[in-house]
Amino acid sequence: MAKSTLSFVCQNCGAAYNRWQGKCDSCGEWNTLAEEDTTGSVPVSIRSKRKGRTFALESLSGKTQDAPRLSSGMAELDRVTGGGFVRGSVLLVGGDPGIGKSTLLTQATSMMARAGHRAVYISGEEAVAQVRLRAERLGLADAPVQLASETSVEDIVSTLSEGAVPRLIVIDSIQTMWTDTVESAPGTVTQVRASAQALIRFAKKTGATIILVGHVTKDGQIAGPRVVEHMVDAVLSFEGEGSQQFRILRSAKNRFGATDEIGVFEMTGLGLREVTNPSELFLSERELGSPGTAVFAGIEGTRPVLVELQALVAPTSLGTPRRAVVGWDPSRLSMVLAVLEAHCGVKLSGHDVYLNVAGGLRIQEPAADLAAAAALVSSLVNAPLPTDAVYFGEISLSGAIRPVAQTPARLKEALKLGFGRATLPESARGDGGGDSGLSLNSVGNLTTLVAEIAARGTPRGGRAVPRDDQGGSRSDTAEKNATPARFRRETS
Ligand code: TYD
Ligand code: MG
Repeated sequence: MAKSTLSFVCQNCGAAYNRWQGKCDSCGEWNTLAEEDTTGSVPVSIRSKRKGRTFALESLSGKTQDAPRLSSGMAELDRVTGGGFVRGSVLLVGGDPGIGKSTLLTQATSMMARAGHRAVYISGEEAVAQVRLRAERLGLADAPVQLASETSVEDIVSTLSEGAVPRLIVIDSIQTMWTDTVESAPGTVTQVRASAQALIRFAKKTGATIILVGHVTKDGQIAGPRVVEHMVDAVLSFEGEGSQQFRILRSAKNRFGATDEIGVFEMTGLGLREVTNPSELFLSERELGSPGTAVFAGIEGTRPVLVELQALVAPTSLGTPRRAVVGWDPSRLSMVLAVLEAHCGVKLSGHDVYLNVAGGLRIQEPAADLAAAAALVSSLVNAPLPTDAVYFGEISLSGAIRPVAQTPARLKEALKLGFGRATLPESARGDGGGDSGLSLNSVGNLTTLVAEIAARGTPRGGRAVPRDDQGGSRSDTAEKNATPARFRRETS
């Protein structure tokens, strides 16, 4: 009999220690060590001292078939996986409780089953009746999905080894699975890792695609199985604001595709609806003509996405003014504010600043700098921006507007959605932006943009400067000629 080995394993990163300690030296987390029996966590075959067999070594240039992919029947899911499920691949889908992971995967398995493939849904969290109830609600009860409520990995593997190889197996969730080969409790790192290993081995051996559902801790990491992230082929996270109906599927790792694609869904009473044109969704509840909002023409993966940035700049009553941002990088906001102060004469140290990306989207592109700056200045001087304008461009620390990639795609999307003008970096004109059908306002420096916006209005409480209606006039020459000095006079 194997000697029982007790060790203390960090439930965050999987590092093992001989004695308990408050902080994990490996990942720096506090209070994550738990006592686990790690007997058998190394498979017997590895521990035994057998002589290895020899195998053939191959060259890189050999002929290999393209990884065969199978569409899930949901275009947005395929977009994120890189064009469908690859045979023998294992995906990890993480997300907050209640965000819709089980709903998404019930829909995906049903689509596969309806297309004539063997699709299996194993729930370790819900009873068969509960899963059926959800399927009924989604109108998918007639799909020939094979369903079970099971938690033993050995039982699952032997059951699925019988009959035709399943094309898709959903394991909801990996934290509820346990295997006989290790002795610690289900949900511990050792169990999760060993269960995932067994399932991955099954996928590679048979060519079935396995989707593992993983829970997410309060700070957004997939709980326990950080180690699992390294073992699987793709890590997808399903995100969304609790109060919003939009859900975004994002890939954090993908061995068979790009990681910058997003899939957009809307949670409805009848399950998740795919959103093929996210811009329309993100702009649908736009309040036209209110100060502090700017439309950013962004790119998510290969797809242009238009989204509204909302800013509120208000005098502070605190010693240290507040800076709050949702959906964007707070350090980029600080940088834009610093450039506005240092180069454009915009004094914000006495103001609270709030910035929000509408619709629950999270923007990672530096190209959003210009739109954020436009929204901030628009709020500060209480001047609405033209309702038919989009903004994009990166701001450098010197205040220069730097060019960004994929200008034509951004402009095309803006034109498609009825926008009439775009404010963009100067060098973008030659970049295919010239014949876009939009009236282009290229700015080389943030100071120019600030002056243009300042010319449109006055600070809160001040007298409004008469101006032509937002959106109508295409001749902005008067605004272009305005100087920052004029802006300073108006706002002080
Ligand atoms: P679920 O898929 O169970 O979430 P997860 O598996 O990520 O924990 O989804 C739960 C939420 O989704 C629940 O709060 C209700 C909502 N929902 C709908 O709004 N419409 C639907 O058709 C379904 C099935 C769920
Ligand atoms: Mg669930």
